[in-house]
Amino acid sequence: MTGVETEHKGWLGRSVKRKEDTRFLAGRGNYIEDIKLPNMLHMSILRSPFAHAKINSIDTSRATELPGVVAVVTGELLAEHNLAWMPTLSGDTQAVLATDKVRMQGQEVACVIAEDPYVAHDALELIDVDYDPLPVVISPQAALDPTAPLIRDDKEDQTDNKVYHWEAGDPEATEKAFAEADKVVRLVTHYPRCHPAPLECCGCVADVNPATGKATIYMTSQAPHAHRTVFALVAGLPEQNIQIISPDIGGGFGNKVPVYPGYVVATAASLLLGRPVKWIEDRTGNLISTGFARDFYMDGPLALTEDGTMTGLRVKMLSDQGYAYADAQPSKFKAGLFHIVTGSYDIPAAHVVTEGAYTNKAPGGVAFRCSFRVTEASFFIERLVQTASYELGIDPAELRRKNFVPPEKFPYTSATGFEYDSGNYEPALDQALERVGYKELREEQKRAREEGRLLGIGLASFTEVVGAGPSRQYDILGIKMFDSAELRVHPTGKAILKLGVKSQGQGHETTFAQIVAHELGIPPEDVTVQEGDTDNTPYGLGTYASRSTPVAGAATSVAAQKVREKAKKLAAHLLEAAEDDLEWSDDKFTVKGAPDRAKTIQEIAFAAYTDHPEGMEAGLEATNYYDPPNMTYPFGTYAVVVEIDRGTGQWDVKKVVAVDDCGTRINPMIVEGQIMGGLTEGFGMAAMELITFDEEGNCIGSNFVDYLLPTAWETPPFELGETVTPSPHHPIGAKGVGESATVGSPAAFVNAVVDALAHAGVREIDMPMTPDKVWEALNEAGLAQ
Ligand code: CDP
Repeated sequence: MTGVETEHKGWLGRSVKRKEDTRFLAGRGNYIEDIKLPNMLHMSILRSPFAHAKINSIDTSRATELPGVVAVVTGELLAEHNLAWMPTLSGDTQAVLATDKVRMQGQEVACVIAEDPYVAHDALELIDVDYDPLPVVISPQAALDPTAPLIRDDKEDQTDNKVYHWEAGDPEATEKAFAEADKVVRLVTHYPRCHPAPLECCGCVADVNPATGKATIYMTSQAPHAHRTVFALVAGLPEQNIQIISPDIGGGFGNKVPVYPGYVVATAASLLLGRPVKWIEDRTGNLISTGFARDFYMDGPLALTEDGTMTGLRVKMLSDQGYAYADAQPSKFKAGLFHIVTGSYDIPAAHVVTEGAYTNKAPGGVAFRCSFRVTEASFFIERLVQTASYELGIDPAELRRKNFVPPEKFPYTSATGFEYDSGNYEPALDQALERVGYKELREEQKRAREEGRLLGIGLASFTEVVGAGPSRQYDILGIKMFDSAELRVHPTGKAILKLGVKSQGQGHETTFAQIVAHELGIPPEDVTVQEGDTDNTPYGLGTYASRSTPVAGAATSVAAQKVREKAKKLAAHLLEAAEDDLEWSDDKFTVKGAPDRAKTIQEIAFAAYTDHPEGMEAGLEATNYYDPPNMTYPFGTYAVVVEIDRGTGQWDVKKVVAVDDCGTRINPMIVEGQIMGGLTEGFGMAAMELITFDEEGNCIGSNFVDYLLPTAWETPPFELGETVTPSPHHPIGAKGVGESATVGSPAAFVNAVVDALAHAGVREIDMPMTPDKVWEALNEAGLAQ
């Protein structure tokens, strides 16, 4: 660990050990694969080998005859129940099982339901599908060519492959800024397609009770309540008869936000067959067909004055959405929050134009450890600012410092319309520079160059926007983005906290219990945190985009404060004092000036059920649906030092320093874990993670031999630092942090490698920066050995 010190104050800022780890370390987690119901059937999915093909026929007779096979489900059968297509969370449609055409490799074509998972799998080979391959579109640029084949010919009004066009900012003011600029610097870059690849793939056990009609669906869902509503709409089942239970989840990273065909078919099959049906996705199924991320082409100039003051930014972005626009997207923002692209800089004019295109790929764009496309935006501006520093001959740290939104301008309204709640960027930059030894490194870099060595120092000073959201602006499919907490204190002073969010490994059972402890003095070990069961938790939009702490964390605080209000009335009754004469400290109410006249929260809880005053309702509980007044804006500066081998193009990471500001840290150890996870992912994207497609649309990256993830072996050590700028509108000043490091770090790694070659005119190396690509750049710059 890195020794981040946070002052201990009550239960906040304390690295309480993760409560949930007791069961995980003992092998007592309860994942979908652990769920076994009596009489359960197993489902396996037949996937398309073609990226684009017409389906002439599907013959299931041989598969149906295999002993142990109970049913084979096709799109035709689903169509009879109006279930062949389903709505996506971005308001598009997606096939459940293909009927007319397949539109991506790996698309779901048929499902076998059998007594045994191996029989279900074997039977897939006995299904005969007659395909007519069609021309394939694998890039958004090709998709927008007027001669491109139409991918979504199933949609009546769709005459081309455009998904959306969306703009933000002020085009005229931006035009003027460029007309008056001394210098214009441009960056054209691509953030390639990558996959969240959670350790646990997707899966479900659907159990529709034939007697009651109640559907209990155990599924790998980051957003069980929203999914229940989608199920009710898709299947026409009454919502009160659907219970979604997300048990322990082995990582989500945005991949478990969309609704996948496997969930829907398993539920339909259970409904039709009257038996529970289990579907466990295999690794290849997960890697080729479920929510991808990124695949953004970005192009933009930055206008500056001679002295390096940024005056205008114009960005054009084209996203490859795959064959369906299926990621969860706030409905008013077609390109998510990409327009945060002005980042940490006080740029007075900006104009952002975004377009999405359908291609013959799996749907993309999930919030992969990122708040709705902020990662791409942050990558772009941090790469562009670095490029500008070389073009202007200004040190990259100084160019950033010069243009930071100054602390006195917060709350700050950006040129594209965000109101940054708080920020103080220079201390984070200073700390990162200090810890990495920036001044000395620049000297060393000069000496190294003289010796023929290539040393690079990369910076990224990112600003995130997390915690959707104010419901007036943010909704998914019309469902407003609030979140919830229900807190019940039992007679013995122990409590249960029920939340609308759902952890996938972030440690909610510990941190949310700490918030209750902070507000009420009930120790975290006495607070059970329950999530993920729609029958037993209040409605919420789920966990993704670092929204749990800013929204459900705030709901928890407010619910606990409401409990304290009632506790005060009870204490007044017990102490025979006026409420105004009581004061609260840590875990008890005391009569002012009489320290021995006090009642602890535990004594008060007991009285709530045994000795409450006449006319007062029994019990001690409260609920809060929290609608945040604004998003939170965590930020930080990362510094990366690399040295490149001139013979091989291999780059070695010498040092990584990450200084983050997420306001009040509830549990510093968990925050550090989140940041290290994000840094590892950022490093992975910079170094090795890539999903590509050949010209026939075959996915290269369908297994962990082709799709490389960093392990502990390759990953460099990280040194962490912090600054603390509390969010002014959050009850405990916390900002989200789950995504920040993935947002901030890829640019820092690329900037470091480019910085090593910048003196020779190199400005851009595509991610992932594999040794061959770096060697190519070395060669072109005349630096290869
Ligand atoms: O929505 P998600 O849980 O992925 O992200 P988050 O709200 O940023 O929180 C990630 C984890 O870090 C949770 O366990 C939080 O409670 C914890 N956290 C914290 O301890 N202090 C903060 N200021 C922010 C998050």
